[in-house]
Amino acid sequence: MLKEMIAASLAEHCSLSSQQIAELLEFPPNEQLGDVAFPCFALSKLMKQSPAQIAGQLATSLPSNSLWTTSAAGPYLNFKFNRAAVIGQFVKNGGAQIPEIGKGKRVIIDMSSPNIAKPFGIGHLRSTMIGNALYNLLGKAGYETVNVNHLGDWGTQFGKMITAYLHWGGPADKAEDPIKAYLELYVRFHEEAKLRPELETEAREWFVKLETGDPEARRYWSMFIEDSLAAFNKLYDRLGVAFDHYLGESFYNDKMDAVVDQLSQLGLLEESDGALVVRLDEEGLPPCIIKKSDGSSIYATRDLATAIYRHDQMQGEELLYVVGAEQSLHFRQLFLVLNRMGFDWAKSCKHIPFGLMLMDGQKMSTRRGKVVFLEDVLDEAASHALRIIEEKNPTLSGKNEVAEAVGVGAVIFGDLLHSRLHEVNFSLEDVVNFEGETGPYVQYTYARTQSLLRKAASGNSGEQVQSEAADYLHTEGDYSWQLVKSLMRYPDVLVQAAQRYEPSVVARYLIELAQTFNRFYHHEKIITGNTAEQSAKLALVRLTAECVEDGLHMLGVKALKEM
Ligand code: ARG
Repeated sequence: MLKEMIAASLAEHCSLSSQQIAELLEFPPNEQLGDVAFPCFALSKLMKQSPAQIAGQLATSLPSNSLWTTSAAGPYLNFKFNRAAVIGQFVKNGGAQIPEIGKGKRVIIDMSSPNIAKPFGIGHLRSTMIGNALYNLLGKAGYETVNVNHLGDWGTQFGKMITAYLHWGGPADKAEDPIKAYLELYVRFHEEAKLRPELETEAREWFVKLETGDPEARRYWSMFIEDSLAAFNKLYDRLGVAFDHYLGESFYNDKMDAVVDQLSQLGLLEESDGALVVRLDEEGLPPCIIKKSDGSSIYATRDLATAIYRHDQMQGEELLYVVGAEQSLHFRQLFLVLNRMGFDWAKSCKHIPFGLMLMDGQKMSTRRGKVVFLEDVLDEAASHALRIIEEKNPTLSGKNEVAEAVGVGAVIFGDLLHSRLHEVNFSLEDVVNFEGETGPYVQYTYARTQSLLRKAASGNSGEQVQSEAADYLHTEGDYSWQLVKSLMRYPDVLVQAAQRYEPSVVARYLIELAQTFNRFYHHEKIITGNTAEQSAKLALVRLTAECVEDGLHMLGVKALKEM
């Protein structure tokens, strides 16, 4: 807010735009000289005067006002804030204002997208958490956000699944945990097919039946989908994630011929070992396979039809794909083919990749049965949180719900704290901890703001903060000032996170804000009984609470009144 105000008033007195000025403004390490400095070197060339001369002139033409004092020091124009006035103004404005950079632009976010009849993988978990944070962040920044779960519900593996189910499966097997039973069937199919190749033939036949709409094949396929969705939805509920659309790969079955026709009319298709491909030699990439030699379409073909549908029918202006970095080649090929087809919107398609997540140093793999594993992780996180709560706050009511929110929140925050491309080395002990750079630490700080506001309300005839009575001279100290400066940065943090598709920017900011608040809390007596002082300090507590709550919400983590 301050930067913008300074930039705007400086722009009236020189030939630079306020945006150019804002980029030049510096925050000197020695605050004695000023809180913000404007270096006049850039103007020197334009105005053919020395930087020091310009600084001197600006200091006279831009006099001090109620918010700041200006002075020239060599080539710099310095601004020193009147802290009380600035803080009063900030509180009056209701804290930091978020710029709407998205301006109603519709962005479609492909996220989570697990595969039917297979366990929900750790990559899908990361995609869900990162995707959900981006969905919130971009929405906050003024985009019209739509998220889609691109379920892996089509492909030759369904022929195998039906075959395996008919040979070895049955209701009894899947009663307890259908996904686990399906995974076992799938694994068994591959083992037995090595010895009995006729199983492969059978599977192919079933897939053909499925493709031609055979009712029996469809029935099994629907059952797999239903069972899988029930399991996935349990997980989404716990993570607090919802989808605007579930549109699986099968949805595009009847939309692919048109794509293949278009590619062939454009002369982009070539034959290669019986398959139809689009060559990408010029770009130094392997060809994108459109149709396999047996005539079946594949993942890439479905993704082409999907992108066209999202652009044409869903009117997406920007298409994001939150998918692991291991699929980078696939998305490069996909976007290049769209570009070759003459779609200039291909440049608004973006792959948002992320790195692996390691559990206590080990890669989690499908063979270890991830559904159970993932639920176990959340369960364990919650019971770990419960143990800490029992110790710290044994009389807390609703302990189990709080522990669930702390445990799940800790897992989400622990993931989002790292730049998304980094490998995350996940350890429950580290993330479910009330101290350190963790979700619970931020949640605990929020609960602290709530307890302060409750305490003040009970001693103040029910009124929490009497803003009119506040005297911000009481918040001129360094701890209050650092807190306000941190709060003022929030809009920049959100914009940066949204522009870089990087939720970690928000997570890291929340840690820093919580630390700054806790320093303020430990050094300043807040409930003093002096109305003018208490109200001023409580105003900062309230703004901190609002900011932390909003930030946690962006990441998909619950803020708790008590813990
Ligand atoms: N189901 C895929 C997988 O598990 C992820 C799909 C990502 N989205 C897409 N449009 N390709 O690998």
